Amino acid sequence: MLGGEILGDAYDAGWVAAQTSGGAVALRVMADLLAQLPEPPTVWLQAPTYGNYVPILTVAGARHQALPYYDPLRSELTFDQMLDGLKAARPGDVFLMQGVCHNPTGADMSEDQFTALLDTLEALGIVPWIDLACLGFAQGFDADCAMAGQIAERFPECIVCITLSKSFGICRGRAGRCSSRPAPATRRVSPEQSRPSPVRGLRTLRTMVRR
Ligand SMILES: Cc1ncc(COP(=O)(O)O)c(C=O)c1O
Repeated sequence: MLGGEILGDAYDAGWVAAQTSGGAVALRVMADLLAQLPEPPTVWLQAPTYGNYVPILTVAGARHQALPYYDPLRSELTFDQMLDGLKAARPGDVFLMQGVCHNPTGADMSEDQFTALLDTLEALGIVPWIDLACLGFAQGFDADCAMAGQIAERFPECIVCITLSKSFGICRGRAGRCSSRPAPATRRVSPEQSRPSPVRGLRTLRTMVRR
């Protein structure tokens, strides 16, 4: 649900997706799957970043490392240091980045930096994992989705986690989604992510987006 609305034409039959109870559960489901791969990748993080990433990855047993993203004293991105640090990654590793309205810094990459980052990921064989939390709060819903669509167009392998709870003001309705292309080699989702998946929040949102 809401695949095409967010990823546009790049949302093809190669994707597998699960509805989740908000974004944190989407992240946890993906962290669990990555940790179970026969050769688990390292998940590279921006620092500082959303405070739940490290606890989620740690509890899932997913290997992770941080790269400097932002210098709070200078109030600027440490973009070159981040790219430089990525050189230590191995092909098949994963880079967990946010879409718009970077949490907690509020500082997003410029378009040029975003393109340079994608060039680097592609050159090093690193899989982008994009986490979208505040779609619609930067330049409007469609414009804010564009970067995810660009990644999905360009990278045959990528991961997208989304929370739409805040974007549509249904925080307590919980609307999240976790998707990857290709499907993860393992499909064993941990027992605490009970089924069936929650769909009510997302159905409401789909009606709103389509209107
Ligand atoms: C970047 C980011 N990812 C994920 C989440 C988690 O979303 P949810 O509250 O739907 O679990 C948040 C919530 O603030 C967030 O800022």
